[in-house]
Amino acid sequence: MHQTIQHASDGTPLYLLEKNQFPNWLQQQDAFVKNWLKNTQYEGKGLTLIPDNNGELVCALFCSEDLQNLFASADIAKQLPAQQFVLHCDTGLELNAAIAWGLSSYQFDKYKQIETPQATLALTNGDIAQQANNVIHATCLVRDMINTPAGDMMPEHMAQTVEAVAQQFGGTFSQLVDEELLEHNYPTIHAVGRASVHAPRLLDLRWGDKQHPKVTLVGKGVCFDSGGLDLKPSGAMRLMKKDMGGAAHVMGLAYLIMSHNLPIQLRVIIPSVENAVSANAFRPGDVLQTRHGISVEIDNTDAEGRLVLCDALSEACNDKPDVIFDFATLTGACRVALGTELPGFFSNDNQIAQDLMAVGEENDDPIWRLPLHKAYRGLLKSDVADISNCASTPFGGAITAALYLQEFVHKDIPWLHFDVMAWNNRKLPGRPVGGEAFGIRTVFDYLAQRYSA
Ligand code: BES
Ligand code: ZN
Ligand code: ZN
Repeated sequence: MHQTIQHASDGTPLYLLEKNQFPNWLQQQDAFVKNWLKNTQYEGKGLTLIPDNNGELVCALFCSEDLQNLFASADIAKQLPAQQFVLHCDTGLELNAAIAWGLSSYQFDKYKQIETPQATLALTNGDIAQQANNVIHATCLVRDMINTPAGDMMPEHMAQTVEAVAQQFGGTFSQLVDEELLEHNYPTIHAVGRASVHAPRLLDLRWGDKQHPKVTLVGKGVCFDSGGLDLKPSGAMRLMKKDMGGAAHVMGLAYLIMSHNLPIQLRVIIPSVENAVSANAFRPGDVLQTRHGISVEIDNTDAEGRLVLCDALSEACNDKPDVIFDFATLTGACRVALGTELPGFFSNDNQIAQDLMAVGEENDDPIWRLPLHKAYRGLLKSDVADISNCASTPFGGAITAALYLQEFVHKDIPWLHFDVMAWNNRKLPGRPVGGEAFGIRTVFDYLAQRYSA
């Protein structure tokens, strides 16, 4: 559940001021307000409530040193009394404040009723309210998909979610299920997913005008990653309902693109599987064929993400898009390198990579580029197949995983691969513990700037 930002002008005023705007604002207030703020020792930092002489609430005031930061005002939604507030601030600050409010109102309440009444927010500008709601909805779609337990977010459920979003925006949805994956030459997706009673699928969403430039998104949709036969230890398995986080990210990004009606031709490809254990599970030492034609020796069945992604990336390249973005909870190594709150990304295109880093900073949605260091390609050598699915050393694990994927991407197609945590381990303003979107506002803003109508 999350709040929708209202388009209205009635409600208690909520003033949002940069710290240096406070003295000026104070000047314009009557003697009562001046005295009240003086006697409550409010000095232009944080949240305060201002009453009239009957004790009724007149307005709320929040001052901060850095309102440019998206999350600066995020926590006030939870501290205000349960009534409607109308935002008063500089036009340039409205969108961020509204997004922050919506993101902090999120609660995963599918299985537990949480009925604490909450303050709501209204903007007088309907366009900004709409833009904020698009971002809030997209992010909360990502969070909901990730937070939903694996048992209720298996490939068949994910298919329903993707189809519903496609329908909402007049896109088309198609899928290949189980044996159809073999008939249409997606051998690695089938091999990873065949041990589950929830049949593996390839989900495919298309939207937009065929005249427009083509952008393709690919997301890792491993609904649960037990590790397969090279089973994960319990601690490492505990959060693996989030291993479809890449799929959730590309759906959130698709939602942003479609709701803002960007002039692009969009395709979203999601290999959706459960990496389960059963008598027909794929094994360490097996050799799989791929859609590309390259053979892969399985060193470890827990390196399954790159296996389902490689066939999806081959298909993505087939219709020669302008650019490919993939998102995946691909490696623990990327978390060791950058921590859980900074997603790593890799690219074969220096210009796009550089532009993206800058856009990330501007959006308080940072990302960090890691190198496709060619010299490590040798770590993926196999004695019996064209490539091994993982290196024998864990060092540089995010890089070797990305180098594996690169083998399946046409070198002339700009490609960006994001290795994300998809989860908040700790609570931060506007970001509750649990499923989280990383980098999608950045990629969306990059696309919006590059392909403006
Ligand atoms: N889904 C995991 C990676 C992961 C783990 C991402 C924890 C985020 C947090 C992936 O399928 C995996 O198990 N990767 C292995 C690769 C190894 C076997 C080469 C890993 O990272 O340990
Ligand atoms: Zn794994
Ligand atoms: Zn995985």
